[in-house]
Amino acid sequence: MATCDIWIRNVISIYGLLLIIMLIIYYFVNSKWCKLTSYIYRLHLLGFEAECAEVAVPYKRRLFEPLDNLESYDKFLRFNNCIRVLEIGVKTGQNIQFYPNGTHLIGVDWNYKLKEYLTESDHAWQFSHIEIEKLIIGDGSCLKDIPNNYIDAVVTTRSLCSVSSVPEVLKEIRRVLAPGGVYLFLEHIPDTKDALTRWLQSFLTKTKIWPSLFGDCRLDSNPLKFIQSANFKSVEWEKIKLRGYVSQPYRLNLTCYHIMGTARK
Ligand SMILES: C[S@@+](CC[C@H](N)C(=O)[O-])C[C@H]1O[C@@H](n2cnc3c(N)ncnc32)[C@H](O)[C@@H]1O
Repeated sequence: MATCDIWIRNVISIYGLLLIIMLIIYYFVNSKWCKLTSYIYRLHLLGFEAECAEVAVPYKRRLFEPLDNLESYDKFLRFNNCIRVLEIGVKTGQNIQFYPNGTHLIGVDWNYKLKEYLTESDHAWQFSHIEIEKLIIGDGSCLKDIPNNYIDAVVTTRSLCSVSSVPEVLKEIRRVLAPGGVYLFLEHIPDTKDALTRWLQSFLTKTKIWPSLFGDCRLDSNPLKFIQSANFKSVEWEKIKLRGYVSQPYRLNLTCYHIMGTARK
């Protein structure tokens, strides 16, 4: 065999081997990808997001203050001095501690473990001051099981970043809210000052790296203009920066700026 032929044969066998190895890795990662991302997302929700919820406690106390003086639109609930709250993205119920005694809660989350978290887990006793009226496993933009003018307060905290359509969710929120009802929100927004962080937020979102790992969360989304144009009677909001101890500060840095406020129907 000529030297040239031997060289070609060697090249083909080396690259062929590399190609086969790459195909095997691709097949392996592809078949396990869904399991891997849902495992990472679960750790994220129960780890980092739980720490964030702790850091946000002082802000949430202020956010949820209007619930204490809210009168229900529902005669029966009003008579019993209770209100009805809908939370979209209720996760493990970390906001429930802020809901007044006797609150009738409708929780929506697309996490199929919702019921397990809120009614069967070791922490379920922490929710004994409220009544869980209904748990809906599904998307926040489709609340067809909830009648018009039925809810006294709707809550979203760090959840609008992952919904498929913010305007659709807001349309549903406005529809289900009773006259005089309030929508309370605390949602992360992109950085405007630090150019590097802003660039990173765009890069991680546009390349789909962050959304694919963390439940479709878009670091570059800002729902404010949608809330302001959703036909609420009034919208009051402020910009806040979450500060405090979390075990992975770089992740808090990517979602530390928030808009917090109240929209009234
Ligand atoms: C980052 S966690 C925030 C949880 C909680 N609101 C808090 O502040 O601690 C976002 C939650 O929203 C839920 N979620 C995300 N997109 C959703 C959608 N389109 N419809 C319903 N729930 C959604 C997720 O499953 C998750 O439980």
